[in-house]
Amino acid sequence: MTPQRIATNPSTLPQSSGSLYLGLMSGTSLDGVDAALVEFTKNLPRVVATAHTPFPPSLRERLADITRRHWQGSMEALLKLDHDLAIVLADMAQEIIASQPKRSVAAIGSHGQTVFHAPSEPIWNTWQLGDPSVIAYRTGVTTVADFRRADLAAGGQGAPLTPAFHSQVFASPHPTAVVNLGGIANITVLPVSPEQPILGFDSGPANTLLDQWIFRHQSQPYDRDGHWGASGRVDPSSLQRLLQDAYFHTPLPKSTGTDYFNLDWLKHRLGDRIATLKPADLQATLTELTAITVTEAMQKLPMNVTRVVLCGGGAHNTFLCTRIESLLPEGTELIHSSLLGIDPDFVEAIAFAWLAKRRIENIAIDLRSITGAKQAMVLGAIYPGQETSCS
Ligand SMILES: Nc1ncnc2c1ncn2[C@@H]1O[C@H](COP(=O)(O)OP(=O)(O)O)[C@@H](O)[C@H]1O
Ligand SMILES: [Mg+2]
Repeated sequence: MTPQRIATNPSTLPQSSGSLYLGLMSGTSLDGVDAALVEFTKNLPRVVATAHTPFPPSLRERLADITRRHWQGSMEALLKLDHDLAIVLADMAQEIIASQPKRSVAAIGSHGQTVFHAPSEPIWNTWQLGDPSVIAYRTGVTTVADFRRADLAAGGQGAPLTPAFHSQVFASPHPTAVVNLGGIANITVLPVSPEQPILGFDSGPANTLLDQWIFRHQSQPYDRDGHWGASGRVDPSSLQRLLQDAYFHTPLPKSTGTDYFNLDWLKHRLGDRIATLKPADLQATLTELTAITVTEAMQKLPMNVTRVVLCGGGAHNTFLCTRIESLLPEGTELIHSSLLGIDPDFVEAIAFAWLAKRRIENIAIDLRSITGAKQAMVLGAIYPGQETSCS
């Protein structure tokens, strides 16, 4: 499996001495895997190389199928997918590691693909596929995975985990919200005063509904730059029906996934009306839904956010970004993470490299104000790399 591209940062000196960690991330959009090879000096990241590998269509279809709420597949299909995805992740990791022959990688942080996330009774579990033993074996590099379940065990939501990383790289003298527009929109709130807690939650859908709707009607994987959505007109009555969903009114902490926000959800909320709408108008309406739920979630916060940092693939959706900007209170600064030196497509992959480093160093991460966990936890399980054969 060949990564689409490996981009090496030309400003990274080969003789640099910081430790290298590789983060692998595939989110709810199911667009593929993002990888970032990161050098850390103390805790500050410097990206050495990045790559994105799209999922082969058949693998993507199997992953999409399994994340559907009422999936009826077999245990064999599940376990084979766990293994097949691990091969994709391992091969991708191997290619990036091989692109830097003079440096050794301390560990890989592999998020895996979430196929089930139910952080409440009666299930209280979350599961990410992509067998880490296979990654550790094929690369020879110690692999950290299963980052979420320690948080769940401590009574947390297991998500989001990235706010701890955001606080390292995006903190500023202004109260800041980091908005990651992935399949789901995740928001991190970084207060200025250390007395105020960092918050992190999912405001609702971002790309997932946009991707699914355009795929249904235009056979396109996503709405490039939001052009199709921008060609439609928002349907106010449908928008109201969507906004009435209880999730948008649920207090924090909260997290959600594509097992909830999907086309079945859309059909259920809109009923017969869905058939009467022009498809482009519904795309405009879904874009507006994300813009409203993101901005309203920020307005409900206990502090005034004056700076918003956008990242994730949705940061390329010009129409969505313009709508978010127009709904923000006057005086709020909106910037892309690239302006702060971090490519919006790799923030999450860099975060999992950072989380792997934390695990290797046995450092607990305090997510109490974010996930609701009862205590700070060391996150992730270690799968040792097996570089040498037995004697
Ligand atoms: N040029 C673009 N215009 C509009 N949307 C885009 C563009 N590039 C990427 N995206 C969106 O970003 C998504 C991928 O974002 P990503 O941050 O990887 O999400 P996830 O973490 O859920 O995988 C794609 O599915 C697509 O919807
Ligand atoms: Mg992605």
